[in-house]
Amino acid sequence: MNEQEAKIRIEQLREDIRENSRRYYVDNAPSISDYEFDQLMHELERLEAEFPQFDSPDSPTHRVGSDLDAPMGANAESGARQGFVQRPHRYPMLSLSNTYSVGEIEEFAARADKSLDGIPFSYSCELKFDGTAICLTYRNGRLVQALTRGDGIQGDDVTENVRRIAGIPQQLKGDFPPEFEIRGEILMPYAAFDALNREREAQEEPPFANPRNAASGSLKLVDPEEVAHRGLICTLYHIPAESVTFDSHSQALDAAASWGLPVSEDRRICHDISEIKAYIDHWDQARKFLPYATDGIVIKINELACQRALGYTAKSPRWAVAYKFKAEQACTELLSIDYQVGRTGAVTPVANLAPVQLSGTLVKRATLNNADQMALLDIRVGDWVFVEKGGEIIPKITGIDPAHRTEGAVPPVFPEVCPDCGTPLVKAEAEAKWFCPNQDGCPMQIKGRLLHFVSRKAMDILAGEMTVEQFFTAGLARTPADLYDISKYQLLSLEGWQERSAQRFLDSLDASKQVPFERVLFALGIRYVGETTAKGVARHFGGIDALIAATREQLLEVGDVGDVIAGSIFDFLHDPVQLEQIARLRAAGLRFDGAGQDAAVSDVLAGKTVVISGNFSISRERMKDLIVAHGGKAGSSVSGATAFLLAGTKPGPEKLKKCEKLGIPVISEEEFRAMLPETADSGSSPEGEKNLPRSAAETSAGIEELTLF
Ligand code: IVH
Repeated sequence: MNEQEAKIRIEQLREDIRENSRRYYVDNAPSISDYEFDQLMHELERLEAEFPQFDSPDSPTHRVGSDLDAPMGANAESGARQGFVQRPHRYPMLSLSNTYSVGEIEEFAARADKSLDGIPFSYSCELKFDGTAICLTYRNGRLVQALTRGDGIQGDDVTENVRRIAGIPQQLKGDFPPEFEIRGEILMPYAAFDALNREREAQEEPPFANPRNAASGSLKLVDPEEVAHRGLICTLYHIPAESVTFDSHSQALDAAASWGLPVSEDRRICHDISEIKAYIDHWDQARKFLPYATDGIVIKINELACQRALGYTAKSPRWAVAYKFKAEQACTELLSIDYQVGRTGAVTPVANLAPVQLSGTLVKRATLNNADQMALLDIRVGDWVFVEKGGEIIPKITGIDPAHRTEGAVPPVFPEVCPDCGTPLVKAEAEAKWFCPNQDGCPMQIKGRLLHFVSRKAMDILAGEMTVEQFFTAGLARTPADLYDISKYQLLSLEGWQERSAQRFLDSLDASKQVPFERVLFALGIRYVGETTAKGVARHFGGIDALIAATREQLLEVGDVGDVIAGSIFDFLHDPVQLEQIARLRAAGLRFDGAGQDAAVSDVLAGKTVVISGNFSISRERMKDLIVAHGGKAGSSVSGATAFLLAGTKPGPEKLKKCEKLGIPVISEEEFRAMLPETADSGSSPEGEKNLPRSAAETSAGIEELTLF
């Protein structure tokens, strides 16, 4: 690689790493696996070492990924608090250097040996817990502060939430120092994670991708009482040497355990590399039986004097290293391959698998990404394939077992024409995917765009896959703007529709006219413009007119918008077909301006935390928006801090019981709406009934192209 190529690649890697770091730490919704992320980081480290002229203190290789609440509050979980108080860490909260190779652990040991020049030392080997880091401060034995890692220099103050986590003592016992810090991990055990995701799916909320994201999202909830119900646990593994006077790390942790703090018992002192290897081998298997997630082993020099002598780099201690396990895999038979056409026309091969258990879930389908990936894997129907979960909920096929190949099995043929409309597929040079170019005529694309438009994170209109199918077949809707022209009479002529369901659909259309511009922009389905980008762009320009008038260069001024996204937005907004759509949607009353000025509609609920339960005339998400728009906070579990329970049809019996016990008022949707000043959004109060069914594709976070479940 020459200097110019290295410079370009380094820039690209830094951008990729920053974007993925934000998805991981801030959104709690990673889109690549930890392994893939670590590979990007390692490639960048290698290139910066080889081309030091391009190294920079700003590079992600020298900085700790930040979980600090983003100013835009881009957190995957609704109800997650925006704007925790940030406080400085007394000692920087660093990361660990990591490797997937035992050889590099040997190199770590050799380096330590050399630097310590004959001073005897041992290793403390521990599990690497896969949760979210926490730093606790105890003063006179009382828990006084809990901070997240944040950017390593300052963290979010989550003390009140941490007080609700089982096993973290408020008061220590025994002979503790007057003041000290102790660090560790907040974890969500698999059982609590499964229960939470089942509940979220039942409530039409997007499930968490993994227990780590769930733990991190839960730690930043609005209501500490709700945190108490999330089943979080804590394990502590590090006391900064500066804050205590022990000889070794293991002594410090043993002492912490004696003060009543939760410390893992699965630590071992190892004396050489063969003992470390035995520890790794044992836990690589045994971890599958632990009730919580671990992603590796941490090897620390145990003697604190040696730790001090070795010191730190800007990002991690020189006295510790993490050995990471590869993601869990399952092996199963490939039964067939489907080719799905997404709303952008991209054709994605999807594998149908013999059902197999993987990290706690039953996997039946997996993505094969694109034709190149299929060729690379040299896959055949009937093969036994390895399935892995990456950062996303959708599993992927990472390899095949050549020993299992059926004789005579032939490679699958990627279709040359669209499996839905028969149009010959095309492929742009820079793209890995084949596309159906029949944007305006391909039924899958048309229905995909409608589904995206009505989805919960976009316009939140009560229509699912079946409804969109019905509208399309009956010729009632091909574009989002058509939805606003549908009459009650037309709805009632469709099979299965009755007065009440028709009215509820029309009410949800009406309510969508209050959806803020940033979500309308997301709903338009501009390629590469996800929720976060839409938010940034909407707030930057304030409204559609300024956005349409923007040059490509002006679009590039928005954080996170690069050439590709700017080009996509620009082209979309200069396409006469799209401009006509926008004009029709605008005429229908949708919000195309006012981004960033979403002041509360009223303050009648100021200072009140309202818990909602059951089903309403609008979706739960919109109901929460309504509470916030009127100055309130939306909590989801009842506590002494709850102002009232807003109960729809079929409210949760547990919540009702708790209200009765605590004397908290329960009010109906009708009573609630009567409390609100008359506005466009609070006026209608149709009879409540169960929400229309929605598909998983609509409710899942950010899965735009595939309907895998
Ligand atoms: S020690 C100065 N020990 O892994 C660094 N960290 O990927 C002290 N982690 O930031 C950290 N298990 O959040 C340590 N047994 C363990 C750990 C552990 C998990 C986390 C920690 C760290 C991250 C690095």
